Amino acid sequence: MENSFAEFIQKYPDYEATTSIDDLRATDYSRIDRCGQVYLDYTGGGLYADSQVRQHQALLLEGVFGNPHSSNPTSLAATELMENARAYVLEFFKAPPDEYDIVFTPNASGALKLVGESYPFTPKSHYLLTFDNHNSVNGIREFAHARGATVSYLPVALPDLRVLDDQLDVALTRGDRSADNLFAYPAQSNFSSVKHPLEWIERAHAHGWDVLLDAAAFAPTNQLDLSQYKPDFVPLSFYKMFGYPTGIGALIARRDKLHKLQRPWFAGGTITVASVQGDKYYFAEGHAAFEDGTVDYLNIPAVEIGLRHLESIGMDLINMRVSCLTGWLLENLTKMKHRTGVNLVRIYGPTNTSARGGAVTVNFFDQNGNGIDHRSIEELANRRNISLRTGCFCNPGAGEVAMGISRVELDVCFTRPDHTERLTLDDFRLCIDGKSTGAVRISVGMVTNFDDVQAFLQFCGSLLK
Ligand SMILES: Cc1ncc(COP(=O)(O)O)c(C=O)c1O
Repeated sequence: MENSFAEFIQKYPDYEATTSIDDLRATDYSRIDRCGQVYLDYTGGGLYADSQVRQHQALLLEGVFGNPHSSNPTSLAATELMENARAYVLEFFKAPPDEYDIVFTPNASGALKLVGESYPFTPKSHYLLTFDNHNSVNGIREFAHARGATVSYLPVALPDLRVLDDQLDVALTRGDRSADNLFAYPAQSNFSSVKHPLEWIERAHAHGWDVLLDAAAFAPTNQLDLSQYKPDFVPLSFYKMFGYPTGIGALIARRDKLHKLQRPWFAGGTITVASVQGDKYYFAEGHAAFEDGTVDYLNIPAVEIGLRHLESIGMDLINMRVSCLTGWLLENLTKMKHRTGVNLVRIYGPTNTSARGGAVTVNFFDQNGNGIDHRSIEELANRRNISLRTGCFCNPGAGEVAMGISRVELDVCFTRPDHTERLTLDDFRLCIDGKSTGAVRISVGMVTNFDDVQAFLQFCGSLLK
């Protein structure tokens, strides 16, 4: 492998403009190298800077904060921090405050569940979603089914795992304009890293659809500009963007669309008035109606600290760096061949950096072309302190297309009498006749450096026969 840094810089000269991130890594993220870790699972979770933790800790140590649902001084102090954070989330995503509201949730899945359980699906409604959605988006189909709505999937096609453009138009015309129809897709797939066009949002709107744009995998390395693109619902998890705190996500929602959601229950904090004898309740306005009980008021202020941290680095710089490293990774992985001429890996998704993010999903093959189980690749990588992710990443649709698992095989498997209630992964493996049930995902992020990528490529080189 002629993987020299000089060659990398020659091919990806933009990387040199991102040296401020190397400086930051040496100071604010020094524990990564001190611990000898090669972290390549940024799509799984981002890494936090020491300074984020210190700033948050200082804030907690200097103030006295009480439960925000009150008007005493410590409660008001907590409310102020939370509302500052809420305002800053809007600002970060350039979301006009008169158009968008922020609901804090435990994570992206929590935001998705809020939409799913409250969306006014009827038997005339459609729930349309791309094959490569995360399971927390797939799960909304259960709410749609329960209310008699039609659920349909928009396929992704090999080799790049993108949606064929004309199929989208055909699917969108199937929505009954007199009903509430929801179209859900990831701005960036957490399986293939394909970035689906944000222009789809207006195309769907033009056909009368509401749009749920899953930004969980997109937001950590791309600027989502809600002054330009206007999805109705945007779920995300903050730990994926800046590592700390975990346990907080958001549903960014258009105010008018939030209004249209019909919550199936009420809880503490969500109502203005609820009566026991009168058997009646009235929802609070906007985000308050969706934040059940006491929110994580001590950690929500750390969201503002994290966003300001990202902004101080610059989303464009992060994006550029990730793109350079991804390009190098893709280019070198595709070059690797066993002595027999067999490729070491098969990449699922685009093999260049155009309209794709920093996750590269592959399976490995031996010199005879036989697949190597993704679990043994993980075990070998673990020995080198390389953190990568294996499995199907909660994205079964993209996985089924990538691994060539057919609808017929799945139907046969799921309709077997002994599979009506329970199905283990091992049973499933038998069903699909030895096809791989998963893959290996390497994802680069904000503070990945050239050495991390080289460490992984060297690991791959060690598998060549
Ligand atoms: C695209 C996408 N959507 C949704 C989620 C769900 O995020 P969380 O597990 O934080 O709820 C993930 C998590 O990996 C994701 O990658």
